[in-house]
Amino acid sequence: MCGIVGYIGYRNALPVLMDGLKRLEYRGYDSAGVAYINGNGIEIKKTKGRIEDLSRILPLPAPDAKIGVGHTRWATHGAPSDRNAHPHACGGVVVVHNGIIENYRELRSRLASEGHQFASDTDTEVIPRLISSYMKGGLPLEDSIKKAVSDLRGSYALGIIGQDCPGNLYAVRNGSPLIIGVGQDEYFFASDIPAFLQFTKKFIFLEDGQMCVMSGRQARLEQLGPAVPSKTKLPDAGTEKTEPAGSPRVVEVDWTPEMAEKEGYDYFMLKEIYEQPRTVRETMREWIENPAAMLDSLGLTSKTVLGLRRLHIAACGTSYHAALVAKYIIEALAHLPVDVEIASEFRHREQLIEKNNLFISITQSGETADTLAAQREASKKGAFTLTICNVVGSTASREADSVLYTRAGPEIGVASTKAFTAQLAALCLISIVLGMKRGRLIAAEAETLTSQLKKMPSLIEKALACDKQTMDIASKIKGSRSMLYLGRGINYPIALEGALKLKEISYIHAEGYPAGEMKHGPIALIDSGMPVVVVAPVNNLFEKTLSNIEEVKARGGRVIVITDEPPGLRAMADEVIEVPSAHPALSPFLNVIPLQLLAFWSGVLNGNDVDKPRNLAKSVTVE
Ligand code: G6P
Repeated sequence: MCGIVGYIGYRNALPVLMDGLKRLEYRGYDSAGVAYINGNGIEIKKTKGRIEDLSRILPLPAPDAKIGVGHTRWATHGAPSDRNAHPHACGGVVVVHNGIIENYRELRSRLASEGHQFASDTDTEVIPRLISSYMKGGLPLEDSIKKAVSDLRGSYALGIIGQDCPGNLYAVRNGSPLIIGVGQDEYFFASDIPAFLQFTKKFIFLEDGQMCVMSGRQARLEQLGPAVPSKTKLPDAGTEKTEPAGSPRVVEVDWTPEMAEKEGYDYFMLKEIYEQPRTVRETMREWIENPAAMLDSLGLTSKTVLGLRRLHIAACGTSYHAALVAKYIIEALAHLPVDVEIASEFRHREQLIEKNNLFISITQSGETADTLAAQREASKKGAFTLTICNVVGSTASREADSVLYTRAGPEIGVASTKAFTAQLAALCLISIVLGMKRGRLIAAEAETLTSQLKKMPSLIEKALACDKQTMDIASKIKGSRSMLYLGRGINYPIALEGALKLKEISYIHAEGYPAGEMKHGPIALIDSGMPVVVVAPVNNLFEKTLSNIEEVKARGGRVIVITDEPPGLRAMADEVIEVPSAHPALSPFLNVIPLQLLAFWSGVLNGNDVDKPRNLAKSVTVE
């Protein structure tokens, strides 16, 4: 969380930094700041609030600065306030930071005993103070940065400028995402690719322990700590550019600036919901005609697949719900037991992973701290690690033994939508392939499923027709204090996802439950003020779900049902949202669409900023 940006080159730095920050605002938005060097030396402007609040306090016209750094914050240490906003500075050294300095208390007391008086409550402030204290001792800026970094424990991506070296921009990475944008006679750094896509598509993906020193004309990498080489070849979604020996490796990404724009929509979230037919198609494109080829490309040998006794999946948030859907599909198609666990739980307990087990992490960003830790744990135990990830060059993609990229393009809305269905598409393909390879899925069945999967983009298109209806329903549930979401089997995780979306965006409390479990607790809550959303596709569990609807109705509950069989349900439910019919294993793709839209409209009608809901951040790089 937190986004950092930096620029050095021939352009006016301030507008470039502000543009970059706007594009990273999804990472945190409680305070923001910039620092730049011009004829007057270093100037810092920062404030509590959002980037637009920051833009109000900037000088006009923009001062002539060719170097600068910026920050958008998601508070960890110290409340959102002007004084805790980044950049932090000391003695002509300015730092922006994403991550957490774990030993900051110890460093703070060491610095305090040297006479430093702290101006903020942040962990970050120790960094410029350490650097300037080494400089006072006679070291030049670059060596002081190296010394200071060797004092730090924790995760950090740092951007640094110094009054003494106005021609150099420094970026250091250890555990938090940081990329370098390579332009013609200009360099950028940022926490994420979309920040500077409008200027360059060429990036250097820093490794942990690396520092990049940029002047306008060149970038040099220094290894500060022990080297942590990535295992995976980077440019799966881009092409590698050959550079002279010793130069950093530059990767060209295939995202376009438009992908990170709203393109006529009022909200990123709505745009991303509507992008799903395309993003699901894109994710499948490479494999759908020949899914069997996928295993080779993932480095999974027949021997490994046949020898598998258990599969482990760990993820967080919406990605965890995709993992839960995958459990149903993989167990059904490949007869392989699947353990799914929330990454923050997985990583902190004894894991019964055996050598050669397959571990899958699912992560849109590839930077979620708990998911990365779970992946590392599994790797330590000897598992083969595969990540399903949306961001080329992200930490998960570089550290895993193998990567299956979802092709959803940049997801900016904090509440995940298109990444979820892209993950489902990737997981369906893997399930089919595992089923075939393990001899559990006969060719004809695999063929039927694949051809149904091919139709998914156009079925999602049809499911999106409920948009207006979900808006009407959102106006009816406005003011509800709590909602219950019910589903059975493979659609139980969809009930969980629907409830999560509603909470995140509308701030209405919601709980997802297996429909059959309602009678063991949640039924006590049901009355006319409690809307109940039921996911009820026609399948082997349909009649049981109908009984659950009857139980809710009998207690005066208001039922909103998502189904492919509306005529039968109109008499029972208060609202019926129709989605197209699909193969039972694929119905989650379609059932989740109205739930995403219902949450979206509930958020909008409650007057919330749905793209940046309160207290949340998109990329959760803290544990
Ligand atoms: C945060 C985001 C969610 C996301 C989760 C996992 O909580 O707000 O939208 O699902 O992190 O993120 P990942 O990038 O690992 O999928």
